[in-house]
Amino acid sequence: MKILVVGGAGTIGRRLVPALRGHEVITAGRTSGDVHVDLAEPSTIEAMYQQVGAVDAVVSIAAHGALDSFHTLTTDALHENMRAKFYGQVALVLIGQHHCADQASFTLTSGVFADHAWPGVTGGGVISGALHSFVLSAAVELPRGMRINVVSPTMVGDSMAAFSSVFPGMRPVPMAELVDHYLACVAGSDTGRIIRAYGEEAFGTTSRVR
Ligand SMILES: NC(=O)c1ccc[n+]([C@@H]2O[C@H](COP(=O)([O-])OP(=O)(O)OC[C@H]3O[C@@H](n4cnc5c(N)ncnc54)[C@H](OP(=O)(O)O)[C@@H]3O)[C@@H](O)[C@H]2O)c1
Repeated sequence: MKILVVGGAGTIGRRLVPALRGHEVITAGRTSGDVHVDLAEPSTIEAMYQQVGAVDAVVSIAAHGALDSFHTLTTDALHENMRAKFYGQVALVLIGQHHCADQASFTLTSGVFADHAWPGVTGGGVISGALHSFVLSAAVELPRGMRINVVSPTMVGDSMAAFSSVFPGMRPVPMAELVDHYLACVAGSDTGRIIRAYGEEAFGTTSRVR
């Protein structure tokens, strides 16, 4: 398969790309990767698809929702927060449906805050929840046998050092387990699935909301 991995140089991407050995893998990022794209700029998504030609799978593991303060959050800031991770991933699919091969798959990335409230991540929660709803609709609308799924990770193992003080008590999903979810989305036949990669006890013994 010819597989486009947006965010292939990132924390998750660095683990996923080697696991896709045997396939033709093209990585993308704003400055990293084989081709350049900014998910916040739809014209660069169109240009990327023109450059890479028809692919059999698109995996998106790029662009975070920002940490935010609920008490000072504005709808303008929320909209800006959604540009890359929500609208960008949606555009990858809406534009990609016209460029990708028959039966191509899209695998998007959301996050645990779609399902579990946590202080300081309203934008991230909204983005991920909206992505889940988008995937459900897209799965019944995509043409030519195309598929779409979304992986919703909790904090990933390789981000523990960076994030464990921001999200105390949250247990990470092991990288191998997470990578397997992405591989199943690419190689399998499922569509319209929201894969909650939260680990068995992602929240440890602490309550969901501190
Ligand atoms: N790490 C976690 O614990 C965790 C947990 C739950 C969900 N997630 C989600 O998983 C995804 C990947 O996370 P990660 O930790 O692997 O991220 P990361 O380490 O920050 O890597 C992000 C990757 O995406 C690319 N990228 C960033 N913004 C982009 C944009 N606007 N357009 C195109 N490419 C862009 C970066 O390359 P360039 O800098 O070259 O653009 C980089 O390759 C994110 O959506 C994140 O919210 C992560």
